[in-house]
Amino acid sequence: MGRGSALTPAGAPAGAPGDGRALPLDRDPRRIAAMFGGIAPRYDLMNRLMTGGRDGHWRRSAAREVAPTPGDRLLDACCGTGDLSFTLAEECPGCEVVGLDFAEAMLARARGKAAARQRRGRHVPTFVRGDLLDLPFADREFAAVTAGWGVRNVPDIARAFAEMKRVTRPGGRVVCLESTQAPDGAGRHFHRVWMGHVVPLLGRVVTGDATAYAYLPASVEAFPRAEELAAIMAAAGLTRVRYRRFGVGAVAIHVGEVPADVAPGATR
Ligand SMILES: C[S@@+](CC[C@H](N)C(=O)[O-])C[C@H]1O[C@@H](n2cnc3c(N)ncnc32)[C@H](O)[C@@H]1O
Repeated sequence: MGRGSALTPAGAPAGAPGDGRALPLDRDPRRIAAMFGGIAPRYDLMNRLMTGGRDGHWRRSAAREVAPTPGDRLLDACCGTGDLSFTLAEECPGCEVVGLDFAEAMLARARGKAAARQRRGRHVPTFVRGDLLDLPFADREFAAVTAGWGVRNVPDIARAFAEMKRVTRPGGRVVCLESTQAPDGAGRHFHRVWMGHVVPLLGRVVTGDATAYAYLPASVEAFPRAEELAAIMAAAGLTRVRYRRFGVGAVAIHVGEVPADVAPGATR
């Protein structure tokens, strides 16, 4: 499998932008896992550089949307190198946090960071390998599920939310932290220039991989807009769906709740 070639080959069928089903990028799981595996050693550094260090604040805001209470079991899907999982564990030291990802190299870094924190006496998550689209957990196993910059990479967004809802107990929350298209205006223009020109250049210099950080802006452009994503979450059966924007409006945290009276697997 070639490292980082996740852009659609010329002539591949393009989905309707924003329909949340057929997307105009190749999100073949093996390609996506290989791409993240390739950038794993510099992934955290790139996050700090790309966001001016704001990513930690956005993760903390997402973790607070979970509103966990001690004893809760929390799942962080698409955990990557674990930063949102660690933030959840810090926000709720009495919670059990499980981070899940399908890229072994990202998980290896998460486990390395966990071991270092544990030596300093910190409460740490456990990390498991798995696919967001086929979560290896029973129905209603978690009090809440988060995904930070993960849903944008899957070929079936509706299924991702259906899986997150399935493993969340009634009354629990599903929280999605994602890059999104900024609303029209100066912020959108700035973000397009930043993502379209500065980030790919930074990515090439820092990681040596031009493709992965060209995939990033392309995947944001192909991703449903914030209001469309909210509709996809509602269609998956989540209720009280709402979202907040951050930065220049190009980062959004969506929150939905699993209705108290819903049977596992039901979409309504
Ligand atoms: C942009 S990183 C986000 C990592 C982390 N959540 C963070 O806050 O930095 C996306 C991660 O999603 C993972 N991923 C993408 N699709 C996945 C899937 N279907 N199942 C599990 N992990 C997936 C990738 O391997 C990668 O580690």
